[in-house]
Amino acid sequence: MSAADWWRDPLAPGQRHTEFDLTKPSPARMYDYYLGGKDNFEVDRTAVEEMHRVIPELFQTARENRAFLGRAVRYVAGQGVRQFIDLGAGLPTQGNVHEIARQVSREARVVYVDNDPVVAAHGRALLAEDGSTTIIERDVRKPDEILDDPALTRLIDLREPVAVLFVAVLHFISDAEYAARIIQRFRAAMAPGSYLVIAHGTRAAGAVAVSTMTKTYETATEKVSLRDPEEIVRFFDGFDLVEPGAVHLPWWHPEIEPHPEPRPTKWHFGGVARRPADGDRGRE
Ligand SMILES: C[S@@+](CC[C@H](N)C(=O)[O-])C[C@H]1O[C@@H](n2cnc3c(N)ncnc32)[C@H](O)[C@@H]1O
Repeated sequence: MSAADWWRDPLAPGQRHTEFDLTKPSPARMYDYYLGGKDNFEVDRTAVEEMHRVIPELFQTARENRAFLGRAVRYVAGQGVRQFIDLGAGLPTQGNVHEIARQVSREARVVYVDNDPVVAAHGRALLAEDGSTTIIERDVRKPDEILDDPALTRLIDLREPVAVLFVAVLHFISDAEYAARIIQRFRAAMAPGSYLVIAHGTRAAGAVAVSTMTKTYETATEKVSLRDPEEIVRFFDGFDLVEPGAVHLPWWHPEIEPHPEPRPTKWHFGGVARRPADGDRGRE
């Protein structure tokens, strides 16, 4: 389904939690445009092009984030995890979580979660025939609603290890304390041996870039709050970071595919961490 077909929304009106707003740029459609996709509108492209004039590396930073997502999923699937909850999943594009995880195991099951109705509509159209992947239109700010959603509980057995992905979504939660509480709510539901994946935009690009991005997203459906690495690393509390720890994304296992591009940037920061058994911290 292309952007022009948005009105062919397969969701019944009662199923939709938010309405299409085509007067404001949306982070999901802007990100689609950063990555060279076609599921975006004039309002998204205009906002992105205005930022791009000030931030030449803008599109590369999105590719760096997406490549990290791919490496992290390949790594976690390689540790034997077969269930994935992808929070703030974005519009289907190249290297979707289920595609990468299934390269490692055909048994991989994926629940995509996003609060953007265009993402939900596209995802449902794409995944209609697929019994081991689904998308739910939910807000990350309401973790209980996500964890209790029958579409999730049908596919994900929380007694088994699961990978919970917060890739380029926590910077849309302006209150850092609240973001940390959301992560802890998921932690409580995750079996020992589960994995947490976080990627987060930083302020490393400098004051002008940060203020340009902040102002642009003030006109969008979600505002952005870029954070420093010291703030982002706290989101891993209660988890054991795997090597090399929390780093700028191109430096996270660059030997895994998709490899980082030459001349990496420090725009995004994050890592992968394992949930230990309660009482087992430091002994694993
Ligand atoms: C920059 S995209 C990241 C997509 C994908 N995770 C990736 O990294 O390739 C951010 C996504 O998060 C979604 N999002 C933002 N705030 C959200 C929220 N409160 N609840 C659920 N999804 C949210 C947006 O709609 C968008 O699709």
